[in-house]
Amino acid sequence: MTPRIGVIGAGMIGSWHARILSELGPMTLAGICDSDTARAAALADSLAAPSWDEPERFFAEAQLDGVIIATPEGVHAEQVALAAKAGCAVMIEKPAAPDTDGVRAIMQHVAESGIMSMVGHVERFEPGSALLRDAVAQGVCGQISAIMARRQFGPGGAEKYATSSTLRILAVHDFDLVRWVHPVAVREVHAVAGRGAVHAATGLDDHVITTISFVDGAVACVESGWTLPRAYADFDSPAGWQAAGNNRLDVYGADGFVSNDMALRHQPLVAFDTSGGFRAAGIRHQPVVHGRVQGALRAEVAHFVDCIATGTQPIAGLEDALRAVALVEAAEQSLALGQPVRPSA
Ligand SMILES: NC(=O)c1ccc[n+]([C@@H]2O[C@H](COP(=O)([O-])OP(=O)(O)OC[C@H]3O[C@@H](n4cnc5c(N)ncnc54)[C@H](O)[C@@H]3O)[C@@H](O)[C@H]2O)c1
Repeated sequence: MTPRIGVIGAGMIGSWHARILSELGPMTLAGICDSDTARAAALADSLAAPSWDEPERFFAEAQLDGVIIATPEGVHAEQVALAAKAGCAVMIEKPAAPDTDGVRAIMQHVAESGIMSMVGHVERFEPGSALLRDAVAQGVCGQISAIMARRQFGPGGAEKYATSSTLRILAVHDFDLVRWVHPVAVREVHAVAGRGAVHAATGLDDHVITTISFVDGAVACVESGWTLPRAYADFDSPAGWQAAGNNRLDVYGADGFVSNDMALRHQPLVAFDTSGGFRAAGIRHQPVVHGRVQGALRAEVAHFVDCIATGTQPIAGLEDALRAVALVEAAEQSLALGQPVRPSA
């Protein structure tokens, strides 16, 4: 029997998940749910799947073996509760919840029901990040002293996250990577924010710099911002290209370093023409190649389906989500208090 997988949240990332599910096999895209009726129907129709606009009915009627939860983080816990009641596995988009209480509520629903759970920490499926982590685990760096991570995009699209935060939307990716490559307890977190045009328009911090001190003496610096110029990422030609971000992850130790440099000037695929100027394509997460989505997002969704089919333990689970969200929570508190904060996990 092929697993029946659904998607709740038919927005930007949920649409990619649904498309990938429709292209993967062997499995069935069992349905799409979104509280926006028209949005759910439009995506479902394009992929020849049924749609719902009420989560309760979706979970009760769609006969799901698994669901990808791609709604805003504030409703993830209540939707995991519905999935738990229906006995279906969950893949929860990052951040798993707005705070650690939310992640712990999700953990309780999962523990009580026994459903399989995975968290959408997509960077773990990016080849450079995964190979970097393997190298660190093999001891290439020796005793680690410093980790530096950066994630920077243009401000287009930030508006819809106005009720969330730059830390929850951007930094959580790198908080997970940092704790994945250096699984050592965190002593304290200190965050400072740059506030400019993005903050004026949306209330979101333009750029946040978070330092993380570990109990073994190592330090991490995580930069997260919408601080590339709008024009950099705002293009629609060549068709199918999505803008690259300015990302990197470096780990330094007594014996060596590893570096996954995805910075602007190192993007492998660029274009220039007189009408559109310079464009750099992001090909790590969801490039469409020969009409099908490839990259880390496809690998992540395929891993979820494989875990359902084989009973394998997912590469990113709720304990990982708790550790990443604990850093988000501590950094948000640090921003509010103007001083370092010890995370709760
Ligand atoms: N892994 C990644 O790289 C990545 C990228 C973008 C977003 N995300 C995460 O995915 C989530 C969604 O982000 P997005 O950019 O797709 O947002 P979006 O606003 O484009 O889409 C969210 C969708 O959820 C629907 N929705 C809201 N509340 C609902 C409810 N109670 N029931 C059913 N549907 C509901 C909205 O109508 C909307 O269609 C966020 O948690 C975000 O952090 C992850």
